[in-house]
Amino acid sequence: MADILDKCKEYTAATEIINMGVYPYFHTVESGQDPEVIIEGKKMIMVGSNNYLGLTSHPKLKEAAIKAIEKYGVGCVGSRFLNGTLDLHVELENKLAKFLKREAVLTFSTGMQANLGVISALVGKNDIIVTDKYDHASIIDGCRLSFGEMKRFKHNDMEDLERILKIIPEDKGKLIVVDGVFSMEGDIAKLPDIVQIARKYNARIMVDDAHGVGVLGKHGRGTGEYFNLENEVDLQVGTFSKSFASVGGFVAGSKKLINYLKHNARALIFSASLPPSNVATVLAALDIIESEPERIIRLNEIADKMRKGFIERGFDIGTSETPIVPIVVGKDEMAFKMWKILFDRNIFTTPVVSPAVPNNRAMIRTSYIATQSDELLEKVLDGFERVAKELGIIK
Ligand SMILES: Cc1ncc(COP(=O)(O)O)c(C=O)c1O
Repeated sequence: MADILDKCKEYTAATEIINMGVYPYFHTVESGQDPEVIIEGKKMIMVGSNNYLGLTSHPKLKEAAIKAIEKYGVGCVGSRFLNGTLDLHVELENKLAKFLKREAVLTFSTGMQANLGVISALVGKNDIIVTDKYDHASIIDGCRLSFGEMKRFKHNDMEDLERILKIIPEDKGKLIVVDGVFSMEGDIAKLPDIVQIARKYNARIMVDDAHGVGVLGKHGRGTGEYFNLENEVDLQVGTFSKSFASVGGFVAGSKKLINYLKHNARALIFSASLPPSNVATVLAALDIIESEPERIIRLNEIADKMRKGFIERGFDIGTSETPIVPIVVGKDEMAFKMWKILFDRNIFTTPVVSPAVPNNRAMIRTSYIATQSDELLEKVLDGFERVAKELGIIK
């Protein structure tokens, strides 16, 4: 007879990697998420975090969190819909809307929940969602939760996007959903082309700017600002778990959109709201993003330096254009091996293997922090060069 738990007893994939001595997951960090971290007793250079603006240990953010705990306690114990809306949530939504130049914002407890809630609330059975093949898992899961049909176009391939839209009947509602900055490849959605195609076929556009806000555009407003096309993006989704140094998610758009989502997004209504300390942290982070644009400038200088440095040394960095710089190494085993040697030499990175990337496109994903020094970054480039030569990845 079938037992639902048989799959757990038979699951060996992770144990096999542990037995090979190259298991890269769940290592314990014993310090703040700073440019250098302590992992299992060892000091390491961190090039595997999304702390883009280096705000996780900022004194103003810590102070804001502590003060919020003192005033509001540690949790909201309820949904935004009912007892879980604090004046702080409303303040954050208003300030974020102003920053993003949107009519309104709605916050969720994570970016993943924002995608789940927004997509499933908007896309009904007469609608079609058109996604990029490299879109984040939370977008895919949002599509699965909706009653609409999902169609996927080849990564950043505008001909393929148009091919799909062309054959969708006119009476169907259409939503194009893309990552603004793709989380593994570090390239940017071709928003100017997407806007033109969307207009032609009467489709709406949603941009998941998890890696775009705080990174792209002069003010850090994300992919829309970067291309000067903010008004063309119908919905901008984001997270507080990267540039904002905390946890949480949001969607920004028209007042009518936000009003609809407030009363229909199940991931909002049936889940507890963000704790006060997180909301206060994000408010403080927003203040710093607005008042210290030099952080965004420095982050992008670092990204340019690293992409150039890797290319000069003969690495394949794919189509990266941002502070996410993948090093493509080919087979999954090679990514695990390289990750392990880097780890042993005190450089913390993230290996990305199939199915997160296509077969034979395994990579070491690196990402950067505005507060990293050039000296630290040179060590990373030299460390990578040495390991890659030993493994025959570069000459
Ligand atoms: C593109 C993208 N969207 C959404 C998310 C989910 O964000 P969160 O960590 O807030 O759930 C992530 C996080 O990895 C992401 O990379």
